Amino acid sequence: MGYTKSAALEETGYVVLDRYNQELDPQEWQDIEFVDWKSSGETQFAPLASAKGEIEVNGFWNHKPPRTDKDGVWIPSQVEKAPNLVRRALEPGANVGRCRVIELQPNVYADTLYNLHQDDNNRLNPDGTGWVVRGFFNLTDDEDSYFVLRENRTDPSVEYRIALPAGAQLIIDTQRLWHAATHTGSEPRYCLITSWESGPELDAYIAKHNGVSRVTDVEVPQDVLDAGQAEQSRRIAARAAFYAAKGEAEKTAMSEA
Ligand SMILES: [Fe+2]
Repeated sequence: MGYTKSAALEETGYVVLDRYNQELDPQEWQDIEFVDWKSSGETQFAPLASAKGEIEVNGFWNHKPPRTDKDGVWIPSQVEKAPNLVRRALEPGANVGRCRVIELQPNVYADTLYNLHQDDNNRLNPDGTGWVVRGFFNLTDDEDSYFVLRENRTDPSVEYRIALPAGAQLIIDTQRLWHAATHTGSEPRYCLITSWESGPELDAYIAKHNGVSRVTDVEVPQDVLDAGQAEQSRRIAARAAFYAAKGEAEKTAMSEA
């Protein structure tokens, strides 16, 4: 039968929506509670919706009973502090799974390439239902930062680099595309991440906000791209050697983000 997917994401695996006027909203992400959670880079997360309405960010399949990334339970103490973020997550009217704000410390492009990972949003997702994709709403004004998306982790031939100013709104099939963010500057980046079920509601939302499946890539000097690629290769080889020396199978994926 297969999953229901958005036609808008078919070509590249992502869409960029119209930019949101972030300046109109209070900086609610400063008020909510964060918990340590190692993801791609130095990160913390503040859940707004979680598996059981508790302040934790584990995948729903790691709970008992295990279930897929849908029907997230809103956390009253967090919702109270961030009503605008919750409103934005609910605007599409699509089923919401995990919903949280990520805090990412500054890094460089080479880190990003090493941090590239795929999400596991559709584990236990019943066949015949909607494929889970993710919304990324940039909250801080990280005008020189960018999302890096690849079809293949180590192959630079298909790489998208999408700018992350305040109000940038992306929807990404993060189980298909390898992804991580390059975040420049000295302050952390904050971004609202929401798991949404694909379907007519999400399609209508993408259309309403003029989603486009291609935008101009952020320009990065070729020598930085080349050095990043070389560093990614070096770190992957070093990691493999580390696990080989320990006689363990290498853990292939980065931790789930
Ligand atoms: Fe991720």
